Amino acid sequence: MILKMKFREIFLAKCLVVLFSCVKGSADKDPKVYGIQNSSVFLNIPDFKVEKQHEIIWLKNSIHLTKGKGSNVKYYKDRKKYEMFTNGTLKIDCLVEEDSGNYKVAVYSATGRLQVEKNLLLSIQEIVSKPEIKWICSQKLIKVICEVKQKNKPALYLLQNNRTLSVNGPIYTNGTWKIEYPPKARILTAKFQCEVKNDVSKRTDDQEIKCSGPQDIVLIGSIAGGSIVFIIFLALLIYCIRKKRAERYAQDDETPMQIQQVDDELKYRELSQSLVHAPQKQPCQQQRPPPQSQTQYQVVPPQPRPRTQLKSPRHMKKRP
Ligand SMILES: *[C@@H]1O[C@H](CO)[C@@H](O)[C@H](O)[C@H]1NC(C)=O
Ligand SMILES: *[C@@H]1O[C@H](CO)[C@@H](O)[C@H](O)[C@H]1NC(C)=O
Repeated sequence: MILKMKFREIFLAKCLVVLFSCVKGSADKDPKVYGIQNSSVFLNIPDFKVEKQHEIIWLKNSIHLTKGKGSNVKYYKDRKKYEMFTNGTLKIDCLVEEDSGNYKVAVYSATGRLQVEKNLLLSIQEIVSKPEIKWICSQKLIKVICEVKQKNKPALYLLQNNRTLSVNGPIYTNGTWKIEYPPKARILTAKFQCEVKNDVSKRTDDQEIKCSGPQDIVLIGSIAGGSIVFIIFLALLIYCIRKKRAERYAQDDETPMQIQQVDDELKYRELSQSLVHAPQKQPCQQQRPPPQSQTQYQVVPPQPRPRTQLKSPRHMKKRP
């Protein structure tokens, strides 16, 4: 009974191992190798130690590139581009996009028996350009854009305080890849980082963005409001002064000729008075200068009582 159960367990375990190795095998099948444009790449034979008697053949997309044993190597393609070492490694120079592809290496024993056969997937990529963060401040919100000038599509990320943001794009226009972070939250100041990368390179740009917030609006508003109030005050002041002057001139015109002199005299007095009381500003809406009562006496035919009152100072002046 116990023996039977143990046997079952072992069987199950064996099945799992087989399944696992199958999955692992398919995932490992074609190792990927990345090369940088305009530089070189070394293609090694994975998990195999080459010996002197071994013959090595390299193929690209089923076309022969090299065949050799030891230092005796035959080149089927561009001699300058490819170089095979005694350890079986293939070096490819001056990498261009067209060098990307499926490479195969086969190793044979001295008797012509296949020892190992491996596939490699080569991908040639350019070094990414430096990205650039741009931004637009609108309605107290930041719209962040990250751009990178290059042909091949890279992976673009926008981060705020080391947190990756979900962005729109990337979109490709006029040789530039672009992502956009729409203005969602009410951010006024924030540190942004744009990261652009591919399998061979990575570059970043950092920016601290400040959008002018409500404080600035209050400040600008108060300055504008203050200047408007000042202008209104100035206009009122000028208006009052002009009105007062106009009133005085009008009064002068109305006054008959005989009393002109008296009026002048009064004006003089008034002026000296106002000079003395200079700091006391008269309110704008004041009707008429105070010496009205005295002027009235002059317009109305002279009466006995006021005459005596005014007689002495005026007589002295009128007849020098
Ligand atoms: C690679 O080299 C060619 C000329 O040799 C040059 O025009 C091109 O800009 C280079 N590319 C890069 C990515 O450096
Ligand atoms: C084989 O030799 C070349 C040149 O000496 C070297 O660059 C390469 O790394 C070697 N490959 C391995 C797998 O050791």
